Amino acid sequence: MLKTRFTELTGCKVPIQMAAIGSLARPPLAAAVSNAGGLGMLQLSGFTPAQATRSLEEVRKRTRGVFGANFIVTEAWYPDLEDLRDVVETTSKHAKVVEFFYRQPDSSIVELVHSNGALASWQVGSNDEAKAAAKAGCDLIVAQGIEAGGHIRGKIGLLSLLDQVLDSVDVPVLAAGGIGSGRAMAAALAAGASGVRVGTRFIVAEEAEAHPQYQKALIGAAPEDTMVTEVFSENWPNAPHRVLRASVEAAQAFKGEIVGQRRLASSGEMAPAKRFESITMTRDTTGTLEAMPHWAGESVASVEKIQPAATIIDELVSEAERLLHSWK
Ligand SMILES: Cc1cc2nc3c(=O)[nH]c(=O)nc-3n(C[C@H](O)[C@H](O)[C@H](O)COP(=O)(O)O)c2cc1C
Repeated sequence: MLKTRFTELTGCKVPIQMAAIGSLARPPLAAAVSNAGGLGMLQLSGFTPAQATRSLEEVRKRTRGVFGANFIVTEAWYPDLEDLRDVVETTSKHAKVVEFFYRQPDSSIVELVHSNGALASWQVGSNDEAKAAAKAGCDLIVAQGIEAGGHIRGKIGLLSLLDQVLDSVDVPVLAAGGIGSGRAMAAALAAGASGVRVGTRFIVAEEAEAHPQYQKALIGAAPEDTMVTEVFSENWPNAPHRVLRASVEAAQAFKGEIVGQRRLASSGEMAPAKRFESITMTRDTTGTLEAMPHWAGESVASVEKIQPAATIIDELVSEAERLLHSWK
């Protein structure tokens, strides 16, 4: 078994964290990952404390494993971090790991997580940001390379980033961006990462509730079909993201303001999806789906079929173990 500082710290059985893949990071997928020994994640940005509690309790009902929750803390959504206080406090009482992304690391929110009994994590895109996360008291740091699907914090490739971050901080570091195979996982672990964070590959997990048209587009795509853009910035400006190029072209060609309807993860209500809005397509999404963001990392190369989350984890771990042993 692959035992690392990450598995020791969190109690996970395997060194794999599911990325909080937007509205797809819901209880069924988070619990399936946790049941398979990984760190399942919920995405709770925009949730009230009551809504967050409901989701966290739902995960707990489905698993005895380890899970966490993620907040996108961009200033575009939270000009004042104080607005997150209550929901972070509640979440820290239920989740093992509480994680933040897209803002300069902040020690007061890290202390809030700690004082309510959880571990604090920050996904970073640069060495300076990693050092700031360590200084802010984070227990874990996720180094995200530019290969990643979804919003990207940094500007450089994962290995170059790991090279710097692993020398700069003492806490366990997870590698994120472009990891969809056991080979990529083995490379990150061999480089010194304590685990990997996997996003795109879980979009096609059976439990993910991603729209089948989105899943099909990923299954047919190659890394070269992805691009980094700022096109889907309607509700989140100045935040580069990696998506399938075809969705950028379709959004640009779309005439009109509203591309369809989507379900809000927090309240469960349906709401209009604006053209160029940063949304994640679930099974309930309707409209001109091809013009909505098809978030995808370079790891899309490893997305071949719809599988249970546990099978994805088994494949990654067994291939990584085999490669790491043959290399020794
Ligand atoms: C559909 C999708 C949604 C994402 N949403 C979030 C999010 O809500 N919070 C976050 O911290 N990262 C988010 N990310 C980025 C991931 O945390 C992670 O860095 C990325 O998925 C790693 O690259 P990979 O997709 O190649 O595995 C998202 C990624 C994808 C693909």
